[in-house]
Amino acid sequence: MKSLALFAALFVLVSAAQGQRVDLIANSDARKTMSLDGQWQTIVDPYESGYYDYRYQPSPNGYFKNAKPKTESDLVEYDFDSSSTLKVPGDWNTQSDQLFFYEGSVWYKKSFDYQRRPNARVFVYFGAANYIADVYLNGEKLGQHEGGFTPFNFEITNLLRDSGNFLIVKVDNKRRRDAVPTLMTDWWNYGGLTRDVKLIETPATLISDYFIQLQKGSRDRVVGWVKLNGAQFSQRIIVRIPEAGVAKAFATDASGTALVDLTADLKLWSPENAKLYDVTIEAETDQVRDQIGFRSIETRGTEILLNGRPIFLRGVSIHEEAPFRGGRAYSREDAQTLLGWAKELGANFVRLAHYPHNEHMVREADRMGIMVWSEIPVYWTILWDNPATLENARNQLSEVIARDKNRAAVVIWSMANETPLGEARLSFLRNLVGFARSLDSTRLISAAMERHYVGATTQVIDDPLGEFLDVLGCNEYVGWYDGLPDKADRLEWRTKYEKPLIMSEFGGDALFGKHGDVLARWTEEYQENLYRHQLAMLKRIPFLRGTTPWILMDFRSPRRPLPKIQDYWNRKGLISNRGQKKKAFYVLQRYYSDLQK
Ligand code: GCU
Repeated sequence: MKSLALFAALFVLVSAAQGQRVDLIANSDARKTMSLDGQWQTIVDPYESGYYDYRYQPSPNGYFKNAKPKTESDLVEYDFDSSSTLKVPGDWNTQSDQLFFYEGSVWYKKSFDYQRRPNARVFVYFGAANYIADVYLNGEKLGQHEGGFTPFNFEITNLLRDSGNFLIVKVDNKRRRDAVPTLMTDWWNYGGLTRDVKLIETPATLISDYFIQLQKGSRDRVVGWVKLNGAQFSQRIIVRIPEAGVAKAFATDASGTALVDLTADLKLWSPENAKLYDVTIEAETDQVRDQIGFRSIETRGTEILLNGRPIFLRGVSIHEEAPFRGGRAYSREDAQTLLGWAKELGANFVRLAHYPHNEHMVREADRMGIMVWSEIPVYWTILWDNPATLENARNQLSEVIARDKNRAAVVIWSMANETPLGEARLSFLRNLVGFARSLDSTRLISAAMERHYVGATTQVIDDPLGEFLDVLGCNEYVGWYDGLPDKADRLEWRTKYEKPLIMSEFGGDALFGKHGDVLARWTEEYQENLYRHQLAMLKRIPFLRGTTPWILMDFRSPRRPLPKIQDYWNRKGLISNRGQKKKAFYVLQRYYSDLQK
C-alpha cells in the first residue's frame, strides 16, 4: 500500500492558480464539456512578429491581445477576424499547399461564450499541439506546453467571461537540436492543433486523477488510487464496478488521495475477450465514469504472460497518419480504420510509433482487444547530456502514462527508438526506465534497440540498455538496407539476455501497383519476397515473442523524395495510403493465421 501512496504522490497535485495545469480527467462522460473544435482564425507568423518586437524581445502587445483599431488613426497590423482559417483538430500542412513544408509559428484564435455554473471550475484542454504551444485567454498568458503528442490543460475559471472570450494559441513546430524528437525524423513534422480542444467544467473539488488496475501478477486484486483537487480534501470515495458486484468505500488522506484496494471476481481482458467494465468513482463533490479492462501482463524468462498464460504478440507498427486523406490522424474513425486493418492481418498487438498517438487509438484498442506498445519520441540522436532534454522526455512520459494508465490494451511503455550506444545515452534512458517504473509498476518496459554482427551471419542483441528492460525490442532491415532478402536465410540470432524479444521493425518499400522481378526494388514482388525470407528467419529465433513489422500503412516523410515512387512517402506500408493492400500483406496475414493454429 505504501508504494501505491508513492505512485499517487508522483502524479503531482497542486491547487491550481490561474493558468496552472492540473491532472484532469478529461474524457469521462460524467463531465460537462464544450468542444472548441472547428474553424479557427489563424495568422501564419514565420518571423514571430506577433510575439517579439524588432529587438527580438517578447512584446507586451503581441497578437495574443487580439487588438482592434479603436479609431481610424489607430495602427493595428493584424486582424484575426479577417484572416484565413484552419480546421481544428488538424495539422496545417495538409490543409493548405502553402503550408505543406511550413515549419514555424501559426497563431490560432477562437472566440466563444460560456456560462459557468456557480462555484464550478473551468479548464481548457488540448489533446495535443505540435510542438510548442503558448496559450492565452482574453489577452492573459495561461502558460506554455512543449511536446507534440500528449495532452495538457489550463485552469481558466477566473479569466472566463460569460461572453466575448477569445482563446489564442501560438503553435510553433520548428525542430530544435535539444528537443524531443530532435532535428531528424523519418516522419512528417505535421504542425498545429492536431487533436481536440475543449472546455471542461468541474466542481470546486474534483476527482483529478485515478489509477485502477489489477495488481501485477494478480487475477482478482484491484489496486490503485483516486486523487482530489480542490479545497475539500477529506472525503469518502466509493469505487463501483456494478457488473462485478463491487461497491467499496475508501477515505482520502491529508493530500486528498485515497488508496484503492479491493478484490473482485473479474472476467479478464484479452484479445479473445476484450472485456471492459463500467467503473464509477464517486466522491462527495464529484463523480467520474470510465470503461476499464482488467488483465495482468508479465514476463517469465523469455515468455510474455498475459493473464498468466504465454502469448505471442502478432503485431504491426503504425504511424499516426490518416488513412486515405493523409495528414495527422485524430479521429475515432481513423483509429477504427487503422486498427481494423491490423485485425484483418490477424494482429493482436500494435506498436504505435514513435510517439503517443491520440486517445481514440488506445480506447479503440481497448474495445477491439488489441494490445499496444506505446512510445515516446526519444528517437535516434537526442541531446543525451542536456538536463532540459531529459526533463522534457520525462514530462512527455508522465503525460502519456497519466492519460493511458487505465487502458488494459496498453501493455508496454517504450522509452526510445534506435538510439546510439554511449554512456550519456544509457544514463538518460535508465533514468526514463526508472521513472516509468515509479509511475506504473503494472506494465512492461521496452525500447527499440539495434543489433550488430558477430562474424558474417550472427546477429547479436547485447545493447547494455537490455539489462534494464523487461522486453527487448530490436529493429532490423535485412533484405532492404542490409543486403538482399535471401540474406535472412543465412542468419542466426543471439542475445545475452534471458528475456523475450519483439522484432519491433523489419520490412522494405514497395509502391502499390508496381510489379516486377522479385529482386526489383520498389515492386510488390520484392516486398513480398522479403517478407517470406524474413518470416522464415524469425521462426528460427528461439526467444522471439512478438513482431511489429514496419509498417501497416505508407506514411509521409521528408526524407523520401524519390519521384514517382516515394514522392515524400515512406512506402514500407503493407497497405498504401489509399488503403490498397500490397502482396506482402497476405504473406504476413498467412503467418499470423498459422500462429493461431
Ligand atoms: C527506422 C526507423 C523508422 C524508419 C524506418 C525506415 O528503423 O525506426 O522510423 O521509418 O527505419 O527506414 O523506413
